[in-house]
Amino acid sequence: MKGVVLAGGLGTRLRPATKVTNKHLLPVYDKPMIFYPIETLVKAGVKDILIVTGPEHGGHFLHLLGSGKEFGAKITYELQEEPAGIADGLRLAERFADNDKLVAILGDNIFETDITEDIKDFEKSTFGAKIFLKEVDNPQRFGVAEMNDSSITKIIEKPTDPKTKYAVTGMYMYDSTVFNVIRNLKPSARGQLEITDVNNHYISDGKMTFRILNDFWSDAGTHESLFKATEFIRGLRLA
Ligand code: DAU
Repeated sequence: MKGVVLAGGLGTRLRPATKVTNKHLLPVYDKPMIFYPIETLVKAGVKDILIVTGPEHGGHFLHLLGSGKEFGAKITYELQEEPAGIADGLRLAERFADNDKLVAILGDNIFETDITEDIKDFEKSTFGAKIFLKEVDNPQRFGVAEMNDSSITKIIEKPTDPKTKYAVTGMYMYDSTVFNVIRNLKPSARGQLEITDVNNHYISDGKMTFRILNDFWSDAGTHESLFKATEFIRGLRLA
């Protein structure tokens, strides 16, 4: 299984800190943000990793991460010309994936969980997708899963009136049909190719599985969430 870290976008919610740099290069306590998703992948044995980022600071990622040797990984790069959505960034991984299954992580997502077993299970499964949910106090800020007893019925992106408190975290496992799904997507009202539309496609096909996380998860894309993620990592380091 191959790994993709999505590190494009403009990081507007972290201005002015992101005016002259990319959000994923900012520190979360003692390391640049992008180290965390890379380490989540490597720890689970996913060592062939593609970084997708925008052209403005692409060179900085190359300088920082190089070949991936320091992580015990092989890192390659792809440029997303415009921040046209998470699914648009993932689209660029088609050649890299080469019909293999993929695990994609958003570059601003910090996970405590170990996904080694999830990777093994997903490698064995014949098809489909898997996502990771986390109960949060502010679901309006995320993709939110609507559920019946044992399955997800639909994901709503940033609902004003969320039906559950289960946020869809920024880690997604897909079979190789994901690129066909992306090809058939229409841009959303905000003009982006939405990862939530990709996931809803797998849900309506009955091919979506999920796990609810009990340990720490946060994005780090707002000042508040970056602070929360930093506090968590500091706690780990000082423990
Ligand atoms: O953090 C989890 C949430 O991430 C999910 O619950 C949402 O369903 C999902 O849409 C996403 O929401 P955000 O509003 O936080 O997404 P944002 O636009 O901040 O992008 C998150 C990451 O995706 C960002 O750190 C880099 C990557 N990205 C984003 C865009 C728009 C790209 O690589 N390219 C892009 O064009």
